[in-house]
Amino acid sequence: MKKTVMIGFLGTVLDDGFSQKRHKKWRPNVNVHHVLDIDRVELFIAPQYERLALQVADDIYSIRPDMHINFVNMPLDNPWDFGEVYEKLASWADSYEFDIEKENYLTHITTGTHVAQICLFLLVESRQIPSVLLQTAPPKGDDALCKTELIDLDLARYDVLASRLDTVKNDAMKFLKTGIETKNAAFNRLIGQIEQVAMGSNSPMLIMGATGAGKSRLAKRIYELKKARHLVSGRFVDVNCATLRGDMAYSALFGHKKGAFTGAMTARDGYLLTAHKGVLFLDEIGELGADEQAMLLTALEDKSFYPMGSDTPVHSDFWLIAGTNKDLKACVKAGTFREDLYARINIWQYVLPALAHRREDIAPNINYQLAVANQELGRTVRFDKAAYERYLVFAMSEQAVWTGNFRDLSASLLRLATLATGGRIDEGLVDDEIRRLLDLWVDDEPLCHQQAVLLSHQLQQKIEHLHIDEFDKMQLINVIKFCQAHDSLASAGRALFDVSRKGKTTSNDSDRLRKYLGKFGITWQDICRL
Ligand SMILES: Nc1ncnc2c1ncn2[C@@H]1O[C@H](COP(=O)(O)OP(=O)(O)OP(=O)(O)O)[C@@H](O)[C@H]1O
Ligand SMILES: [Mg+2]
Repeated sequence: MKKTVMIGFLGTVLDDGFSQKRHKKWRPNVNVHHVLDIDRVELFIAPQYERLALQVADDIYSIRPDMHINFVNMPLDNPWDFGEVYEKLASWADSYEFDIEKENYLTHITTGTHVAQICLFLLVESRQIPSVLLQTAPPKGDDALCKTELIDLDLARYDVLASRLDTVKNDAMKFLKTGIETKNAAFNRLIGQIEQVAMGSNSPMLIMGATGAGKSRLAKRIYELKKARHLVSGRFVDVNCATLRGDMAYSALFGHKKGAFTGAMTARDGYLLTAHKGVLFLDEIGELGADEQAMLLTALEDKSFYPMGSDTPVHSDFWLIAGTNKDLKACVKAGTFREDLYARINIWQYVLPALAHRREDIAPNINYQLAVANQELGRTVRFDKAAYERYLVFAMSEQAVWTGNFRDLSASLLRLATLATGGRIDEGLVDDEIRRLLDLWVDDEPLCHQQAVLLSHQLQQKIEHLHIDEFDKMQLINVIKFCQAHDSLASAGRALFDVSRKGKTTSNDSDRLRKYLGKFGITWQDICRL
């Protein structure tokens, strides 16, 4: 028979009372023993309430003489300070020897401040305290005042809450994906991580990816999501650093004082100030000049900077998203990008996969881009069945390199929709379009050379430091890229060893893949962490 242990605070208000009248009053820590068979109590007490604790203990013993009460000294400077209360309870839980084989635990949350209740809830929910939650209440009706009503807060009921939180996350991910149902595991994982970081971090985010992979669009969506959650109140300021040239670059970003240079008739705020309390998206950040890089670093570190011609710093607090299709690390090595700025913006780095590496997502994107084209043209154009299949087969084939990514796809569908007479896209139109696309890509790099930046910074570093032949390196990189399109080690293993497995009686593809990666010190988690 397991013992029952109750954990909870001495109620300085509810359990209070020294006169005889107290027996007529409902006191949670005392009356609970009328209802429950409890063998031990771990009672948190503040030193100044020792007298009350002794009185409560006496009253409990009068109901359950065989009871064991452990006073746990819990001095709290401020029982309403979330940080302090959580820290103290968590460290108690950490050192307490729970014996779940022999004992059942009940965490009583009727007494203590609301902060204490929340902290206990969190500790139980995270299983740092392996118990069920218990709430007590006075019974209804006057005649049984000193009894207790039990409310078992079964955590299973909070599954509903958990599933609501999941729904919120899924909705956010769907929003970031513009409602397009994507299947590519690497992309979906990436969006999940971006959602988490966008909601919980104020550090800069670096979005890398080939041209047209969707960096600008994603940055805007992240801003809209943050705005909807009231995490930013300012504006989305979208700046393409490649368009900022010469002397005007500094003033465009950081502003200038009236008369700062010839022609400066009025003062100018600059993009950084316009983005105060909002999001500043610096696209093509690799194109920034040396002076602008230096001042941007100051602006990020101090949240203030100097407009051109001014000795007075200007304050601006913005969230930075940087975009680039360049390998910034290579720019650092080449001396064109500051190493300290790179370190400052490279806290959350994400690499958007190219469309050609997300072949399973091409079909929903065709539908989406056609709907966008229809909206733009104010028409309702559809594919003939055979024409759609021909276009899809081509779009998903190795021949289609999609070097301009979504830009190529959207232009292609806009052309098809424009040329479709009678609202139908037929096979003839598709054949012409395929020829057009092939002409467009004729000098482009073959797919296997595209997107050298697809691997995460950490993985690239790991691979760079391996003492292995180029031959093995290329194979390893391709295996990793292949793995990224899969949800699990098992699924990647199955697809990678599909042929050789057929000759075997037993198969352990996951193990084979794990061992292969393990030879290079790479784990499945390294691959998932894009
Ligand atoms: N995930 C997506 N699904 C469908 N269409 C997209 C997606 N992302 C972007 N697009 C569309 O593709 C086009 C290019 O996207 P975007 O401008 O965001 O690319 P980019 O990576 O910023 O390119 P660049 O490096 O040239 O600035 C836009 O018309 C955009 O609406
Ligand atoms: Mg862009």
